[in-house]
Amino acid sequence: MSEPPISIQTTSVEQTRVLASRLSELTRAGDLIVLSGALGAGKTAFVQGLATGLGVTEHVTSPTFALVKSYSGRLDLHHLDVYRLDHVNEALDLGLAEMLDDNAVVVIEWGDTIAPVLPHEYLEIHLSNGTNTESRLVDLRPVGDGWLARHRALRAVIASVGESSSGN
Ligand SMILES: Nc1ncnc2c1ncn2[C@@H]1O[C@H](COP(=O)(O)OP(=O)(O)OP(=O)(O)O)[C@@H](O)[C@H]1O
Ligand SMILES: [Mg+2]
Repeated sequence: MSEPPISIQTTSVEQTRVLASRLSELTRAGDLIVLSGALGAGKTAFVQGLATGLGVTEHVTSPTFALVKSYSGRLDLHHLDVYRLDHVNEALDLGLAEMLDDNAVVVIEWGDTIAPVLPHEYLEIHLSNGTNTESRLVDLRPVGDGWLARHRALRAVIASVGESSSGN
């Protein structure tokens, strides 16, 4: 039942953005991506790449104070950062269900901290430090049938990003 882990080490912020941009090709309206990892791990950088891949032209910045920022693209993107929520219950007021119904992709920085109020299907992406200051370990964990069905496609994206990095 359990699939092998899907992970890659990116060697620059740009490569993290490229990875996210390519992953956007697998997303559909109603998809949720949960980003976890420490301060400065690269969560916002990942969302910038995701937005580019979704055809968002506006510059994506951290919504830490706004909690939610929304962008128009091929699919719309709702970008949340729940770091400043004091309690999981506050997440209930975010209107997550409506955002997921909205012909959009939803991405939540620090989403792991509100796990009890998340739907049962999402792609979790964990970022952590790699072997040097410019590298990050990116671990992908599909949760629920919708994302598990894309396991092979996720691995293909990871492989393509890994190959393109060794060539330059
Ligand atoms: N391989 C890499 N991938 C992503 N970011 C990297 C990488 N190497 C270096 N960085 C740097 O790490 C920082 C990541 O910042 P970013 O704001 O994306 O982190 P964050 O996880 O969103 O932090 P926060 O928890 O404060 O929201 C940037 O300064 C970026 O240039
Ligand atoms: Mg951030």
